[in-house]
Amino acid sequence: MCGIIAAVSSEEEVASILLEGLKREEYRGYDSAGVALLNGKGAIVVRKDAGRVGQLEQRYNFAELGGRVGIAHTRWATHGGVSQKNSHPHLSCKGLVAIVHNGIIENYLDLRKELQSRGHAFTSQTDSEVIAHLMEEEYEKDRDPVRATVAAAKVIRGQYAFVALFSDRPGLLVGARYDAPLVVGMGEKTKFLASDVLAFLAHTDMAIFLDNKEIVELTTEGARIFTLKGKELDARSRKATRVAWELGSLSKESYAHYTLKEIHEQPNSVQSALAQDPEIVSAVADRLKSAKSVVLTASGSSYHAALLMRIRLAAEAKMRCEVVLSGDFERELPFIDDETVVVALSQSGETADLLEAVKKAKSRKVGGVVSLVNAAGSSLARQSDQTLLLNCGPEVGVAATKSFTAQVMVGNLIIDKMTGKDTIGNPYKLGTLVEKALATEQMMSRLAHEYRDRADFYFIARGGHYPIAQEGALKLKELSYIHAEGMSAGELKHGTLALIEKGTPVVVIAPNGHGYDDTISNAQELAARGAEIIGVAQKTHPVFTHTVRIPASNGSFAPVLEVVPLQLLAYFMATERKNDPDHPRNLAKSVTVK
Ligand code: AGP
Ligand code: GLU
Repeated sequence: MCGIIAAVSSEEEVASILLEGLKREEYRGYDSAGVALLNGKGAIVVRKDAGRVGQLEQRYNFAELGGRVGIAHTRWATHGGVSQKNSHPHLSCKGLVAIVHNGIIENYLDLRKELQSRGHAFTSQTDSEVIAHLMEEEYEKDRDPVRATVAAAKVIRGQYAFVALFSDRPGLLVGARYDAPLVVGMGEKTKFLASDVLAFLAHTDMAIFLDNKEIVELTTEGARIFTLKGKELDARSRKATRVAWELGSLSKESYAHYTLKEIHEQPNSVQSALAQDPEIVSAVADRLKSAKSVVLTASGSSYHAALLMRIRLAAEAKMRCEVVLSGDFERELPFIDDETVVVALSQSGETADLLEAVKKAKSRKVGGVVSLVNAAGSSLARQSDQTLLLNCGPEVGVAATKSFTAQVMVGNLIIDKMTGKDTIGNPYKLGTLVEKALATEQMMSRLAHEYRDRADFYFIARGGHYPIAQEGALKLKELSYIHAEGMSAGELKHGTLALIEKGTPVVVIAPNGHGYDDTISNAQELAARGAEIIGVAQKTHPVFTHTVRIPASNGSFAPVLEVVPLQLLAYFMATERKNDPDHPRNLAKSVTVK
């Protein structure tokens, strides 16, 4: 779970290209950063440290380094503490090879022992460093970078994308991927290897998405692609494709943070999510209708979108289905067969738990995998039988915001297709409703100021709104670091009510319609015990200490309007508490380790 960016160029500009790429990838991991470049004298120069990319930039003068070939990394530590020594890139003993690695090498302790017994000296506690030593040992045999990579890949077990730089190969890089992402960027002067297209989008929008278990040899001439066993693939089969995302979408514009910008993009993104190929939507709807069973799987916010989809599949399409957290997918396996359809929801399409779930489902000969995913070309998209893209543009803030609401919309579109009803209506109108929900911004900022020092927060809702209580709590936890729980309103009295005391803030999602009266009764029970009720509703009620007014809408769109103020609350809580909302501590946007 980190960002890799590597480049080989015909011009002396790689150091600054790498630095800029690292900044764009920082959302993937941000506890340490580093760069390795080949200087003109055939030596690999490494600059790395714990801390953010900006700090590294201040410490070293990268513009001076220039360079035509280099690798860089922004880390999210899994093995070994956050320190200068454990930061990537890692150098081999003789300085012949430097590597950056994303993932986990499971057998690193055994490999480390073997390498040490052959005289290799280790400088870090990471699992990754074994790759540098293995690569050096193999490369020294015949100076063949691809063969050395094949040999290293043969002995390492786990999950990885890694890129290697060789001190005697000024115009060349090799990369390999196994269950972790790696994309090739095909600029004219400069070619790239990166975890994500965002890292090189400022230079080129032409990308080759490597398949899993592939090796790439990259020079300024282009990319040669091999299997992990070393068999070269036909270049014609792997042409570069144009990435649809625009560079403009990568800037913060006038917003203080990406998270705020992305929350504000939702009037448009809920509409673009609906711009799907009708044939694919029909095919997905038919697939779901004819399946004997449907299993939805996802993690985090995408899981909450899956929960909403299940509720509506049952209510509208009269279809029962399971929702399984991807990390728990194992338990569902006995029920998966060729008449089951798995629906996978993900922003990144690279979440390791999710990819593992899809892999397991496929091993049971699942009847089909449908994905709702934002990143075109992602591992999930490539492994699915049918894919509906979320079309919400790159989401840079670690907290899922516009991707969540886009998932809800795509789910609604599929369900409408299944039932033949139109619960969505005019997309433009939806945009206007989201604008109205965004008008709660000032109020959410005031509430964040008032409640910024509370230790606990609760969110309650019923039925089709309950996943929004869970999502509101997740947003608050990850951005503000305040403990929060999202509960089904009726469940509160079965235990959690014991935690309510004078002044405990409880967000009560109480839209008009079915369940309103019961939810209000639960709010009364809470208020009777001293809770301060923040009602998210169309109308105020005497039990509410504060009312956050949301616009009225039909059932399928209501969750979107309810979640917007909760996203804003979490954002302002973060800024009130001096947290960086775009980069919450301990987290990474794309969780590519299990
Ligand atoms: C939520 O805000 C996220 N930070 C996280 O829970 C995320 O939704 C989860 O990791 C799943 O990611 P994905 O959608 O990219 O698969
Ligand atoms: N496992 C490696 C480490 O802890 C790589 C982690 C990452 O993907 O950032 O250094």
